[in-house]
Amino acid sequence: MSDSRPPICDYEGSDYQEKFWEHGSREYEDRVEAIALQRLLPEGGSRLLEVGAGAGRNTSRYQGYQQIVLLDYSRTQIELAQQRLGESERYVYVVGDVYRLPFAQEAFDAATMIRTLHHLVEPQKALSQIRPTLIPGSTFILEYANKRNLKAIARWVFRQQEWSPFDPEAIEFTELNFNFHPRVIYKWLNQAGFSPGRKLTVSHFRINLLKRLVPLNVLVALDSMMQRTGDWIQLTPSVFQFTSVEGAPGRVREGSIWRCPECDSLELQTIPEGLRCKGCIRIWPVRNGIYDFKNPL
Ligand SMILES: C[S@@+](CC[C@H](N)C(=O)[O-])C[C@H]1O[C@@H](n2cnc3c(N)ncnc32)[C@H](O)[C@@H]1O
Repeated sequence: MSDSRPPICDYEGSDYQEKFWEHGSREYEDRVEAIALQRLLPEGGSRLLEVGAGAGRNTSRYQGYQQIVLLDYSRTQIELAQQRLGESERYVYVVGDVYRLPFAQEAFDAATMIRTLHHLVEPQKALSQIRPTLIPGSTFILEYANKRNLKAIARWVFRQQEWSPFDPEAIEFTELNFNFHPRVIYKWLNQAGFSPGRKLTVSHFRINLLKRLVPLNVLVALDSMMQRTGDWIQLTPSVFQFTSVEGAPGRVREGSIWRCPECDSLELQTIPEGLRCKGCIRIWPVRNGIYDFKNPL
């Protein structure tokens, strides 16, 4: 791990939500992910952090939480989420970087990171940023792209691909898109101070021909049944990993949740333009209800 700024897969201005999810025949993937989330995430809590929230595709699935903080590197993605969910005290919209989270310790009692780890060059650094923001007893649901999936194994066996799906090294199959080995993810979570628990395998039938031939409800029901096999073996392209933070459950931090991502000061004063850090005098703007921890004034 390094102190320099890792390169980021920038979704600024991207039509990802519309193209990939709304017009990309991904209803199957969306529905089976919803099932996995519902199975792993406690029904409710105080404050949930959604890391790499994108356009808020999953946010409405966290209904039992009093407040949801959506963080994404891309302002345009967060704007789309805000359009979808509306402005209210329940949703806090934040533009920021998972490598330099703008949150105080123990601000949350749950967190999720779905379809985001696979863009991270330094996943361990991101996990070690998320961990201190959670109180003991918290749940963190991590979705990751699994390099040891059946398709990759078949391609490797038939010499259609050079890299081995069994090799623990992450594979960057296209720029800033990584697949990981389940054993390595487990090790990194432990090293970051999480206690990994149940695993659900998701998207067993992510094959276009199957998706065209088999009725959606049947595929979803089959996937749902097979998700529980994830505790024994993970051969799907996507894995949902339950992790917790050990310790007697406490209460999330009261008062301000903010921490300056530049100087770590917890003294951020609300001013008309946004938040003024007393430590480094930077002003982090709040525009149209969106906190911006990327571009200080
Ligand atoms: C594939 S999208 C997934 C969005 C959403 N979680 C979903 O499942 O629909 C990945 C998201 O991760 C965000 N992202 C990538 N690198 C990031 C970083 N360093 N910090 C915060 N967000 C990041 C991107 O901006 C993008 O919105």
